Amino acid sequence: MRAAVEATGQLDERGRLRHLLALEGLPRALVEELLGSAARFAAAPRARHATLAGRTVANLFFEPSTRTRASFELAAQRLGATTLNLEAERSSAVKGETLEDTLLNLQAMGVDAFVVRHAAAGVHARLAAVARPGVAIVNAGEANVSHPTQGLLDALTIRAHKGADLARLTVAICGDLRHSRVAASATAVLTTLGVGELRLVAPRELLPDAARGARCFDDLDAGLTGCDVIMMLRIQRERITSLSVPDDAEYHRRFGLTAARLALARPDCIVMHPGPVNRGVELASEVMDGPRSVILEQVANGVAVRMAVLDALLGRGG
Ligand code: NCD
Repeated sequence: MRAAVEATGQLDERGRLRHLLALEGLPRALVEELLGSAARFAAAPRARHATLAGRTVANLFFEPSTRTRASFELAAQRLGATTLNLEAERSSAVKGETLEDTLLNLQAMGVDAFVVRHAAAGVHARLAAVARPGVAIVNAGEANVSHPTQGLLDALTIRAHKGADLARLTVAICGDLRHSRVAASATAVLTTLGVGELRLVAPRELLPDAARGARCFDDLDAGLTGCDVIMMLRIQRERITSLSVPDDAEYHRRFGLTAARLALARPDCIVMHPGPVNRGVELASEVMDGPRSVILEQVANGVAVRMAVLDALLGRGG
């Protein structure tokens, strides 16, 4: 996992959110405020609001997405905004237009917030540097570096099940930690919120270079024992170029979460996954569809978290 650079410029001089570029460096009080707002939206998931009436939110996704993109669109619409979805592969980016120029053009049409997913690190900060004051950049996935709204929805889901005091909890993040922006942002937010013990569990070649305060395990059974929360991750094969990674069957044998392995964790342990799940590889269907799985709650919380973020950025005249 690559350390996200503490994003500068995402807060204004009064400490309010101007862009959401990374969770690293966000004050705990601001994280708590976003989670509180998200919890209120989550409590009434189908309610319609008008705090973004007259605003326009553009989705610019240069990498595949199902959950993140759909939930940002629903979030913006449930707050009363107009949404614009740019098909990245059909945009003028393929004709050589820079991303900065794409942003300036859409900004000229009155777009107020850009929700951006991109495979290159640093794109979001570059866009934030050229955006007009009052226009927000929201990171919806940056290379293997960060995925801040995923980190927030993971924290919201954990708090919904385990309470706001994370100091008592042992959380294990298991799988391809080396290439996962989800793991990076989860690590950041759980650290900010004072998690008791954070474990990173992966085959040696998929452990991150820097553990950042977490305990590393290369044995799944040892890593799961006594956990309150398990977050499984898929192998990010599209980001793996040179490593030799076990095939799916071998990976499942060594690192797949099965019901038998889940029994090593605490009896009330919850199982999370950001999706997309590779069934039968990192996660057995019996666990994914079983009573300890909160995966679809994470998905629902994703809409609420994205509503809270857009509301914080645009909803109060920001
Ligand atoms: C993740 C992503 O794109 O980073 N998915 C998501 O946003 N829920 C995780 C992944 O692709 O494995």
